[in-house]
Amino acid sequence: MTKILMVCLGNICRSPLAEGILRKKLKEKGISVVVDSAGTAPYHIGENPDPRAITTAQRHNIEISHLVGRQFTVDDFDEFDSIYAMDVSNCDNILSLARNEDDKTKVELLLNVMEPGSDRSVPDPWHGGGDGFEDVFYMLDEACEKVANSLK
Ligand code: 4NP
Repeated sequence: MTKILMVCLGNICRSPLAEGILRKKLKEKGISVVVDSAGTAPYHIGENPDPRAITTAQRHNIEISHLVGRQFTVDDFDEFDSIYAMDVSNCDNILSLARNEDDKTKVELLLNVMEPGSDRSVPDPWHGGGDGFEDVFYMLDEACEKVANSLK
């Protein structure tokens, strides 16, 4: 079965939202794919998503409150087929752990699924207000729709 990993910095805002959004879309489309998320940093290991991410997801009928933060590890290159990074910094951090070309080819900036080579980042909403989370939700929703359709 195909396995997809969403990665941000803390694994409490962007990547758990992306995980929840993609899971919901795949379920609705009847596509069986494993989806997980992780952070490049260890700051929030064992924590549930940020309350603002949880409420943003709930507004769109997506439940992510049960998800638990974990850190990206080199084993994730073996476990997953595609690894989507939320921003350029996350992407660089993941690539710095790659052991070979096979590992590197699994890694892509999420928003490049919308516009290949554009190298746009999903902004980090953690430091901002609630609107930031809603903006991030719509960016992730659009990109996850594209990912889900590519898995049909
Ligand atoms: P995320 O947001 O990477 O989308 O989960 C952040 C969460 C926490 C921190 C930074 C970004 N932090 O510095 O603790």
